[in-house]
Amino acid sequence: MLLRTAALRGLRRWAPVLPLLVLLAAGCSPDRYPQTALRPLSDFAKIGDDIQTTTFYWAFGVFVLVEGALLYAIFRFRGKPGDPEPRQVHGNTTVEIVWTVIPALILAAIAVPTVRGIFQTAAVPTGDVLKVEVVGHQWWWEFRYPDLHITTANEIHIPVGQTVSFHMGTVDVVHSFWPPRFAGKRDVFPNRETRLWFQAKATGEYPGQCAEFCGIEHGRMAFRIRAQTPEEFQAWVAHMQTLGPKPAAAATAGPSDTVRTVSAGAIAQAAQQPGKPSAKPAKGDSAAAAPAAPQDPAYAAGEKLFLSKGCVGCHSLVAVDPPKGMIGPNLANVGARSFIGAGSFRNTDETLARWIQNPQAMKQGVLMPNLGVKPDEAKLLVAYLRAHQ
Ligand code: CUA
Repeated sequence: MLLRTAALRGLRRWAPVLPLLVLLAAGCSPDRYPQTALRPLSDFAKIGDDIQTTTFYWAFGVFVLVEGALLYAIFRFRGKPGDPEPRQVHGNTTVEIVWTVIPALILAAIAVPTVRGIFQTAAVPTGDVLKVEVVGHQWWWEFRYPDLHITTANEIHIPVGQTVSFHMGTVDVVHSFWPPRFAGKRDVFPNRETRLWFQAKATGEYPGQCAEFCGIEHGRMAFRIRAQTPEEFQAWVAHMQTLGPKPAAAATAGPSDTVRTVSAGAIAQAAQQPGKPSAKPAKGDSAAAAPAAPQDPAYAAGEKLFLSKGCVGCHSLVAVDPPKGMIGPNLANVGARSFIGAGSFRNTDETLARWIQNPQAMKQGVLMPNLGVKPDEAKLLVAYLRAHQ
């Protein structure tokens, strides 16, 4: 009985701490926080995670020993009323040497994997490497595959099992490229190239983020990483490579628009190779929203608006060797992307229409001005853009 009352009293005393512990435990769940660096999905991220884990265990050991000794001393040598004043000591050479040497040895033990990790991650990758150029813009990301002659924006596709080497720069201020599941942060500068590499180990769609304050919309300078099987990646590349410039002759031919011809071609190609996965976008894509049909008059009307409203001045719809230095993101496959506004808003017809009409309301300070697009015009533009997959 006495024991139970004591236990209850103890429980009551700890009750205020319990919600805190629950919160702490919830904070450890990486599924709720996809932007975690604690579940590495690449060789590069694993190096950093191993060092972190090693350091954590060393620190935990030190904590237990030091706090244990402290608590032992507090209870074992606690003063009682009437005790004489304890003996006063001024320094103890042996103890001081011991508590200097032990931390020095621990730091040396941590330094070895740390320095090794620095050299490993700074090394230039060799062998079968996929080169990707990353260009930071206020506030979006441009991704170019120079050897494959394709460009995209805000959603980068990479193959699993192949090292990707990122060559990075910016056109304006300092940004920082951070794909947390795959690598640490790497600052990105104007007029200076920085590099990062990693080899993804798992397929899926993962978030990335600019990690250097770069202006009012720094927080909305995100990106997505689509890690795919080599076959899926090849199919995506092959599809993107068909999104080339519109041939001059076809430009006036109406229905035989490049995008459509190309999509039809890609589908035909996929059909011929039943074993190969098609270039169909991953599950969860808003690409599921039906794109405009070839004969859809909304598509033609949308195209007319795209040209007349000035969209074409900043956005290229060409994935193959598009003109460099475009102000806005490349939109060649915008219809298939999961997000718009650089990882800020789900790519639905509704958000896309809102964006077209009033980008400033959704992402204040963005370079795209409000072009005075009316709701019905926005619908046509959405139909046109959605077809660009
Ligand atoms: Cu770019 Cu922060």
